[in-house]
Amino acid sequence: MLDVTEVSKSFATAGGGLPVLDRVSFTLEPGRRMAIMGPSGSGKSTLLSILGAIDEPTAGSVRLDGVDPFTGNAAARAAFRNRRIGFVFQDHHLLAGCTALDNVLVPALAAGRVPRETIARGRRLLERVGLAGRLDHRPGELSGGERQRVAVARAVVLAPRLVLADEPTGQLDSRSATDVADLLLDLTTESGGMLVVVTHAESLAERVGGVRRLVDGRLLP
Ligand SMILES: Nc1ncnc2c1ncn2[C@@H]1O[C@H](COP(=O)(O)OP(=O)(O)OP(=O)(O)O)[C@@H](O)[C@H]1O
Ligand SMILES: [Mg+2]
Repeated sequence: MLDVTEVSKSFATAGGGLPVLDRVSFTLEPGRRMAIMGPSGSGKSTLLSILGAIDEPTAGSVRLDGVDPFTGNAAARAAFRNRRIGFVFQDHHLLAGCTALDNVLVPALAAGRVPRETIARGRRLLERVGLAGRLDHRPGELSGGERQRVAVARAVVLAPRLVLADEPTGQLDSRSATDVADLLLDLTTESGGMLVVVTHAESLAERVGGVRRLVDGRLLP
């Protein structure tokens, strides 16, 4: 379960504190999904990075299965992210020098060891996302939709408790966007994880379900 309580965030800027999130609270039950919509600049990506323990809230708390990632040191927080969170970014963030398969295995590499079963799972995931013939392609040798499918496979390879996706289909044509969304929903559901998707696309938000709107840093009821 994801438990977000009164999370506020302000950034320190030259002109003083810039408030971005204002007491955001919600819970997400195990296996459930949520879509966050809202205007540009309303704080969606900021909220997602806090949920993913990439950035720290100014106030409030985040608990994933009872664990608050911000109470431990940096190493503990990195381990938390690696073991429990899968992230799909808008612009894939794949490693340019690594093959599709190696990119999918990055979370396992970061965890320190890549068991044979994980390599097999990485291959299966890439087959599943229609890239069986692209295992050895580097990101520069893949189309935008293919890269985003690799990013989805990478996010779920360790079957994380929480998958976070920030406009995962933002740069794709409608056919590729549908494919990527299908995979994101199917693969997260299969691994039993929770899913939070930030999107400007009504169609994707409706498919994800549990749509909430963030306006000026406040999550509307
Ligand atoms: N590191 C930072 N330092 C200062 N201000 C920041 C920082 N990161 C984000 N902001 C500001 O916080 C606000 C919210 O940014 P955020 O990226 O969360 O918006 P968003 O809802 O994801 O928008 P978009 O739909 O355009 O992606 C913006 O006004 C942005 O300028
Ligand atoms: Mg954003």
